[in-house]
Amino acid sequence: MADSNVVLIEKQDRIGTITVNRPDKLNALNAQVRMSLAMALEQLRQDAEVRVVILTGAGDKAFIAGADIAEFKGAAAVTQYRVMQTSDIYSALERFPKPTIAMINGFCLGGGCEVAMACDIRIAGDKAKLGQPETNLGIIPGGGGTQRLPRLVGQGQAMRLIMTGELIDAARAGAIGLVDDVVPQAELKEKTLELAGKIAEKSPASLQAAKESIRAAWQMPLEAGLRFEKAWFGLLFSTEDMNEGVTAFLEKRKPDFKGR
Ligand code: COA
Repeated sequence: MADSNVVLIEKQDRIGTITVNRPDKLNALNAQVRMSLAMALEQLRQDAEVRVVILTGAGDKAFIAGADIAEFKGAAAVTQYRVMQTSDIYSALERFPKPTIAMINGFCLGGGCEVAMACDIRIAGDKAKLGQPETNLGIIPGGGGTQRLPRLVGQGQAMRLIMTGELIDAARAGAIGLVDDVVPQAELKEKTLELAGKIAEKSPASLQAAKESIRAAWQMPLEAGLRFEKAWFGLLFSTEDMNEGVTAFLEKRKPDFKGR
């Protein structure tokens, strides 16, 4: 159980929503939020009813405005190194076996942008602002920004965003591929739930296989990635869901995937 109200968990149908709940601090990530986020993810990982997870921020102003800068003041180098190594929610999100969607409802900065980039799909409201402003503080992104941003938007755009620290609007983020969809702010929740609902209908095993195979494209040479994909493809033939999917198609009905 996530033990604190700085992170909220909701469940609706097969969709789990995790909300970072520090709106007065624009949902900045402090140690307590990081720990609660990790616990919330673990809870939803174990919950077989949940097939897709949405991550968002409370209030109408921010998704997550970055690491809590107040915690940086006076922090020792070795302490900060350990913090980044041990509370790596970014890698935890990437390794999470179910699909994740970042619902970007406002400022999505620094560690917040890194959280969004570690999710599988990013959908932003048209009022959102995104950026990696760490160089304004004399530091660099520490939650994977220098690695995931260039993979998403290319080296030049990543250099520009990180070196200038400038914030970009949602439309620009969509144009460079930092977010996958931009929708009117008022429709953000509805559109995100619609997307999550479509994904949640699928077999959990096929979703995990798809996620791991697509993620492998970032890590592996093409030949190894193609082999990895084929191994997953074959493995899915051992699931009841695959039998259900094929049978439903042949019987001209909608499949009912049980997650087995
Ligand atoms: N860490 C800690 N506190 C933060 C924060 C952060 N990353 N981002 C916002 N806050 C706090 C502010 O200090 C303020 O707290 P206060 O009311 O106790 O003074 C509150 O959240 C509201 O923010 P405010 O700055 O008043 O809102 P704004 O609309 O004027 O500006 C931002 C919004 C996002 C432009 C501005 O808050 C900002 O630049 N935040 C830091 C972003 C950043 O550098 N993130 C990367 C960190 S590595």
